[in-house]
Amino acid sequence: MDISVVGAGHVGLVTGACFADLGNQVVVTDHDKDKIALLKRGKTPFYEPGLEELVRRGIAQKRLRFTTSMKEAVEHGLVIFISVWTPQRPNGEADLTAVENVSRQIAQALRAYRVIVEKSTVPVETGEWVKRTMSLSVRRRVPFDVASNPEFLREGQAVQDFMNPDRIVLGVESKRAKDLLLELYKPLKAPIVVTDVKSAELIKHASNSFLAMKISFINAIAQLCDQVGADITKVAEGMGLDTRIGRAFLDAGVGWGGSCFPKDVWAFIRIADKLGYDFQLLKAVAQVNVQQRQLFVKRIAQILWNLNNKTIGVLGLAFKPNTDDLRSAPSIDIIRMLQEEGAKVRTFDPKAMEQANGLFTDVTFCKDVYEAARGADCLVIVTEWNEFKELDFVRLKKLMRQPCIIDGRNIYDPEALRRLGFRYVGIGRGHPTTYLGLPKGSPSPHGEKSS
Ligand code: UGA
Repeated sequence: MDISVVGAGHVGLVTGACFADLGNQVVVTDHDKDKIALLKRGKTPFYEPGLEELVRRGIAQKRLRFTTSMKEAVEHGLVIFISVWTPQRPNGEADLTAVENVSRQIAQALRAYRVIVEKSTVPVETGEWVKRTMSLSVRRRVPFDVASNPEFLREGQAVQDFMNPDRIVLGVESKRAKDLLLELYKPLKAPIVVTDVKSAELIKHASNSFLAMKISFINAIAQLCDQVGADITKVAEGMGLDTRIGRAFLDAGVGWGGSCFPKDVWAFIRIADKLGYDFQLLKAVAQVNVQQRQLFVKRIAQILWNLNNKTIGVLGLAFKPNTDDLRSAPSIDIIRMLQEEGAKVRTFDPKAMEQANGLFTDVTFCKDVYEAARGADCLVIVTEWNEFKELDFVRLKKLMRQPCIIDGRNIYDPEALRRLGFRYVGIGRGHPTTYLGLPKGSPSPHGEKSS
């Protein structure tokens, strides 16, 4: 099928490259000339595993091409995906200016029937606005349909998620649009939910908000685990085996970040407000996430007594592994709070160093983990990169001023690190200093002996 994608960001590019790989003829358009020039050379503007390879293959096999011309894209694609930026306004709402502009431009270039599909995450009723905007600008009486097909792609595994989806959601208004989209997605052999446009839009916001809620929930339980010396990883396992709950997204840590959850949770709160519903549950979900970062820094301060003039090695800057994305990354708040307390920060991230350069001041960027550990009073894990999981701890211990690891992603075995002579503190894994307030002789969790 001939399809076009408007917006060569994370979602648009993955969508375009994957559809091309499935045998479709794809045109991807973006108004950013530099980005399009880069893509034409087979290079991607951000890091996403497997994507560059797909882009190159698509170009080589002449199934994927890039252009800055909206006219070319609209002429080409029978199905046109809109996957443009919907940034967050200061009040939390999604800014839909780009969606509106693109809808108008598509309408002006329309000469024959097309299905216009919202792929960007947008508030419920955006489909109606797209339709209205297009109707005002469409020349002659060219027919078109507006549909919603939300994406469920996780950064760092977006290609894999696209090719092996749990489900595909199609919000459609006509049989013609439905049949075209069903045909397009047929090769993926995934369960398909066909519904109206508004329900599809809600499915996306509700899904992201629910996942964020799961994480905030387990993070709140982790705080209780720290108070009583219980182990959150076991609590999550015990809860997750209940198929009604499920184990996914119950990893306690320094909280959720990225370009989606923070933006979408707040956008959903604002839409609910506008619709006259006070979404208190989601407000608490967002609040727990902010608090989680603050409590983490507080915990570091408890462990090191004072943060002023202490050197902290921060491992991981990206909001999660396998991406160089720093948008709303917990690392940003954590480093800022550490610096406010007078700590000196050394840091390393396997992919996000370049992006991080302009974001932080007075931070020492190191070439690897060991460099970041040099002279440090503690190492703090903020992103669970695989390469942080297996380290030469004997070497680390020699390099550090104090052998102390504060694991914001629970990637290590506490006992193993303690045996190696490290002071180890995870999230919700029986943090020992909370026992300082208990009566003398109270047992410390896991029989921990502080080194
Ligand atoms: C998220 C959704 O998972 C995708 O389904 C959705 O399509 C996408 O947003 C989007 O709206 O575009 P993404 O933001 O890439 O994907 O990342 P996730 O893997 O969902 O992780 C989000 C954050 O939650 C990360 O900071 C991660 O570290 C954190 N997280 C995740 C936890 O703290 N604990 C967990 O158990 C899982």
